[in-house]
Amino acid sequence: MSIQDRIDAFAQDLTAIRRDIHAHPELGFEEVRTAGIVADRLREWGIDVTTGIGKTGVVGVLKGNRPGRAIGLRADMDALPIDEQTNLPYASKTPGVMHACGHDAHTTMILGAARYLSENRDFAGTAVFIFQPAEEGLGGARAMLADGLFDRFPCDEVYGIHNSPYHEPGVIGVKPGAAMAGANFFDIRITGRGCHAAMPESGIDTIVIATSLVQQLQSIVARNVPPSRQLVLSVTQIHAGAAYNVIPESAHLAGTVRYFDRATADMVTQRMQALCDGVAAGYGVEVTMDMRNVFDVLENDPALSQAMVEAARDLVGDKAVVKAEQVMGSEDFADMLQAVPGAYCTIGHAGSVPLHNPGFIFDDAALPVGVALMARMVETRGGA
Ligand code: NI
Repeated sequence: MSIQDRIDAFAQDLTAIRRDIHAHPELGFEEVRTAGIVADRLREWGIDVTTGIGKTGVVGVLKGNRPGRAIGLRADMDALPIDEQTNLPYASKTPGVMHACGHDAHTTMILGAARYLSENRDFAGTAVFIFQPAEEGLGGARAMLADGLFDRFPCDEVYGIHNSPYHEPGVIGVKPGAAMAGANFFDIRITGRGCHAAMPESGIDTIVIATSLVQQLQSIVARNVPPSRQLVLSVTQIHAGAAYNVIPESAHLAGTVRYFDRATADMVTQRMQALCDGVAAGYGVEVTMDMRNVFDVLENDPALSQAMVEAARDLVGDKAVVKAEQVMGSEDFADMLQAVPGAYCTIGHAGSVPLHNPGFIFDDAALPVGVALMARMVETRGGA
């Protein structure tokens, strides 16, 4: 009986778990019910469970039947603040919260791998099942790391998976090296002098300054970043003013920088600061900038990427591919990969609506394949 047959035998149970989590989505660091399901199921299968790592994170540890290395498998558990519009029978029962990124599926896949590995118990080393909270920009991976994740549960390698409605069903892709962008978030606050809109000479107009600054910031990517280096600088918020006849005292800009190269990102921060200082001096206003790193660049270890593609090839044949394209999106598994080498793959499914869309639908047919791949990473790497 092949691994895929063994997993297919409990595919209906996997779908039931996934749909139950889908119907009860929870936002980052609030995954109490989800973490409870994870812990209960892991215990049911005889796996050692530790809860409360990084607030709502859960770790399960399962020893194989012979000595070997420790292999981590990571899933994210959080949902998004989106009102679901799928009309599915198992659609979100919580208004304004939805599993629109398929983290319900990732959680189920790692649970499935835990079940398969515990039932067969035929692998070298130790499997470490990592269920993290708050992937969607709230720093759940960093919270687990700060709680001593890899000190308390040492891993030699760690692997992650994300569903993809952008690829054909069953296609598993890995991009060796820098695969997903690092992300900084920034806030810029401009303080001028408010006044009557009919007498602009009596104040300092922060709206004129803010719009000018937005244009100047765009010159950084166009004129300071080498064209061969991928970088995005997007201003995504402008807040100022509340009346037709008042020039506002202050304006607030916010946005994000996405990058693959830290030195380039640091140069961009310096150029942004210089432009802020320039408008502050030129217009006689106060301009403060706060820049913070939210996600690291996701770096797939080249050799372990190859190992993941080979494990995938055993399961899906030619549908296992080495991807050439970098993605400007970000993923906080990047922070775990900074601590422990590993790789992150995407798995295609039959859904056609984009991630983070209120109509997003994950195709459960992809669950057993994802489970098999993650289990195979333990089986193939635990004794490597
Ligand atoms: Ni996601």
